[in-house]
Amino acid sequence: MSQHSTLRRSVVLKRRPNGAPEAEDFEIREDAVPQPSAGEVVTRTIWLSIDPYMRGRLREQQTYAQPVNPGDVMTGETVGEVIASAFHDLAPGDVVVGARGWQTHSVTPGERLVKLPRHAAPLSAYLGVLGMPGATAYRGISEICQPKKGETVVISAASGAVGSVAGQLAKRAGARVVGVAGGAEKCLWVQDSLGFDDCVDHRSLDLGRELAAACPNGIDAYFENVGGAVQAAVFELLNPFARVAMCGMVSQYNEAEFPPGPNLGFVVGKRVLIQGFIVSDKPEKLAEWRALASPWVAEESLTYREDVVDGLESAPDALAGMLSGRNFGKLLVRVGTDPA
Ligand SMILES: NC(=O)c1ccc[n+]([C@@H]2O[C@H](COP(=O)([O-])OP(=O)(O)OC[C@H]3O[C@@H](n4cnc5c(N)ncnc54)[C@H](OP(=O)(O)O)[C@@H]3O)[C@@H](O)[C@H]2O)c1
Repeated sequence: MSQHSTLRRSVVLKRRPNGAPEAEDFEIREDAVPQPSAGEVVTRTIWLSIDPYMRGRLREQQTYAQPVNPGDVMTGETVGEVIASAFHDLAPGDVVVGARGWQTHSVTPGERLVKLPRHAAPLSAYLGVLGMPGATAYRGISEICQPKKGETVVISAASGAVGSVAGQLAKRAGARVVGVAGGAEKCLWVQDSLGFDDCVDHRSLDLGRELAAACPNGIDAYFENVGGAVQAAVFELLNPFARVAMCGMVSQYNEAEFPPGPNLGFVVGKRVLIQGFIVSDKPEKLAEWRALASPWVAEESLTYREDVVDGLESAPDALAGMLSGRNFGKLLVRVGTDPA
């Protein structure tokens, strides 16, 4: 381990944010890089993933996962290099993905880490298109939206890590795919690079009218990532027997109290299916997705975009920016150098 730093830096929650998270809600803690006990490995972090669910972990209430408490290291998925191992299946130099938190080094039970192939795809891809966000899109589209040829599918947060994959999967199924994204630049990319048929800017003054114009045959499936005004505009246009995959509602993650919900009476008459899902409920789907999508990434038939910020200290600001739409593509923090 001698060629590596002996100092570990971790981002620790100092206090629960009130509204949008701020850098002052976190602090950096320094200590010595730990040694592994039996069954553990020590890794140095290369990439840290920033994801909207992290805002939920900062709330006091437990949701589907344990909250992060003041004094705790922030949770997060990372790609890292093993620098010391007391676990039979991993050796120094191996590259792994797993939940190792916002820190430069971590000590983790080896059985919780997945070893990555070294040159099949850029390592950062295992946190985005080939990782949890990609698998989320895969589950929501294949299990709930189930698009058919000629149907209209709407995807919100369409330029993001999940939305960009969800829309491309719906296109592969032969659907007409309409994205919703924030701003002209994102909408242009969603159409030109991802191949969506249309994209509506949710900041438009008349979102409902523009969405209706983009969906002249109504909406057969909706992949929900944002909630709020976008959800209201989509629900107006749902067709009988429409399917709604409730993936997330990022527009309200910073709110202390959630706004009153929509009147769902139409769900009965239109026989709409609305189903929530959490990607980690079916961990086996991640490996299935990786196997399916790796060739698409290699042959560049599945397009993805990354938004990289540098340095562990940038993570709190990056999370705050994501919750206001500052990121353009899968948001990642480069914490350490990529091994050659
Ligand atoms: N259910 C699960 O297991 C699961 C797993 C992973 C992710 N998710 C959910 O999937 C969604 C997308 O996650 P992601 O990782 O792909 O993030 P992302 O889309 O890459 O980034 C979040 C995006 O949300 C949009 N946004 C933020 N505030 C908004 C607002 N007030 N109104 C409309 N859009 C807003 C922004 O895009 P614009 O600039 O386009 O508005 C922002 O770039 C989130 O809701 C997340 O919680 C769920």
